[in-house]
Amino acid sequence: MEAIETRYRTHTCGQLRKSDVGKEIKLAGWVHSYRDHGGLVFIDIRDRDGLTQLVFDADLCGHAVHEESRKLRSEWVVSISGTVTARGEGFENPKIPTGQVEVRVKTMEVLSISPTPPFMIDEYEKVSEERRLQYRFLDLRRPQMQETLRTRYKVTKTIRDFLGDLGFWEIETPFLTRSTPEGARDFIVPSRLAPGNFYALPQSPQLFKQLLMVAGCDKYMQIVRCFRDEDPRADRQAEFTQLDVEMSFIDVENITSIMEQLVAKLWKEILGVEVKLPLMRMDYDLAMNKYGCDRPDLRFGMELCDITELAHTLDFGVFKNAPMVKCIVVPGGGKFSRKETDALAEWAKGFGAKGLAVTKVTATGVDTGIAKFLAPVAAKLIEATGAKEGDLLCFAADSPKVVHKVLGELRLKMFRDMKIEPNQKYAFLWVVNFPAFDYDEEEGRYAATHHPFTAPNDEDLAKLDSKDRATVESIKSKAYDIVCNGSEIGGGSIRIHRIDTQQKVFAQLGLSEEQQKHKFGFLLDALAYGAPPHGGLAFGIDRLVMILRGISNIRDVIAFPKTQSGADLMCGAPNTIDDKQLREANIRVAMPPVAEKKPA
Ligand code: AMO
Ligand code: AMP
Repeated sequence: MEAIETRYRTHTCGQLRKSDVGKEIKLAGWVHSYRDHGGLVFIDIRDRDGLTQLVFDADLCGHAVHEESRKLRSEWVVSISGTVTARGEGFENPKIPTGQVEVRVKTMEVLSISPTPPFMIDEYEKVSEERRLQYRFLDLRRPQMQETLRTRYKVTKTIRDFLGDLGFWEIETPFLTRSTPEGARDFIVPSRLAPGNFYALPQSPQLFKQLLMVAGCDKYMQIVRCFRDEDPRADRQAEFTQLDVEMSFIDVENITSIMEQLVAKLWKEILGVEVKLPLMRMDYDLAMNKYGCDRPDLRFGMELCDITELAHTLDFGVFKNAPMVKCIVVPGGGKFSRKETDALAEWAKGFGAKGLAVTKVTATGVDTGIAKFLAPVAAKLIEATGAKEGDLLCFAADSPKVVHKVLGELRLKMFRDMKIEPNQKYAFLWVVNFPAFDYDEEEGRYAATHHPFTAPNDEDLAKLDSKDRATVESIKSKAYDIVCNGSEIGGGSIRIHRIDTQQKVFAQLGLSEEQQKHKFGFLLDALAYGAPPHGGLAFGIDRLVMILRGISNIRDVIAFPKTQSGADLMCGAPNTIDDKQLREANIRVAMPPVAEKKPA
């Protein structure tokens, strides 16, 4: 990148090459390292584009500047002028792009000084995350963080270019809004002007983008912050960024096709990797049956094998009484000790299992664990699962929900723990044909699997009036998720554009006419005034950047993230506010506030 010329610099610290030798230039940046050889002082100066070696020689810069250069310390900010010279033979540094040259300094201006920083600004030093978040402005100076911010910018720029060329308009939607149910808890904001009333921060711009389609905007996109008051996780923040998209007059194939082209473009531009299109489409049912999860990681096998029928023939209570029995083959798992397999069973209980039955595959059959119960079907079992000598068979017997959860998680755990070699670097797919409704046993009612505005499949529309649980649960919807390496990077649906269908779906979700009007009156009004068929999706930008950069912690792809407990350790948020602010917001705090998370 070339510098924009200012009084401080003519070039960036990553720019100078052999072809620049002889030029009079100016550089500005941070002191990265210093070596004082008495006569000569060497300083590496750093900016976001790289490092350049400076040489202070009293013969050239004069005694005063030479003396000043000996006082420079890490992270001081300087601007220098000097001459680009070739480094002598044997003094070149092939590790950095500017390594063939150095700058012989003539003048220097110290712009800022710094105390010794709490950690070194390089990629090698191990620093605790707490420390990094406290001093985020220093942490972000580190090359790997700068590279992530650069990638993030490239992602959003590529998206805007690609969608802009296709005629998408970027349209902003409000942050202070009415809460719309997306499944998570809302962040709320008290209203000063309407005491006792609250705004909610949007979990996504879902309804606004649908209203923009009703408004005739045709193709909408927005790179937008979303807010969900959930517990943060490795791939989840309370405040995260979506690429939000909506289009009119489309069906599932149109939007998924455009969006996978966008993904291919991102992988090409940023990684130089060709993504083969079209991406695989997999039915939700198949994903659950084979991988136990709706965002399968296809970089490895270990698929779930249904042995319910075979298991029911055995004289083994655990299997006989279970509605479903499935197993996975862990390659090489035969080497696990009894202690290790017992630990797996305990681990499985954390996912609702009653246990985890195992057995080892030998040259002649099965041995240890539940081998004695399996004896009558050992040969059939080995054939059905394709297990080999030295493998471990792990069984779950329970309701389909529990079996899929446990074995789906076990599959991922074994991939990690056994360090199984992935069969490809990036395994993409679309998961399609999700069930429209998910029965919530605790609440005793249905919830929308995607969201309540998702269109059921055309052939299932007639079932919307049904009260029969099996019929309602068989309704599939035009929802789709895009998955990469087991991470849901985006999801969306074709929406309901007819008011009668929307009312039926609301009714299935247990909303009375009164409640529908109260919660979604504006949507129903809009649908009454000529809504085009429309649909869209949203990508998680943070998750995209995580995969593109091979980073497993979402906090490492966000400039100013929150900790697991939702705190910003740098500025100390959330914090208490004074009585005047509380009064103005019409709020009285009923409980003694917890101590603020103060930067140490
Ligand atoms: P959904 O809730 O599936 O859909 O969100 C879309 C994508 O956003 C990302 N994502 C998150 N990333 C980080 N932290 C979080 N807490 C978080 N939650 C979600 C995921 C996910 O795939 N309005 C619909 C989209 C639509 O129907 O068009 C929506 O928000 O990558
Ligand atoms: P038990 O007869 O309860 O001692 O269980 C025998 C073996 O089956 C143990 O290894 C348990 O971990 C395992 N087991 C128990 N319940 C289940 C289940 N629902 N699914 C799979 N394995 C189970």
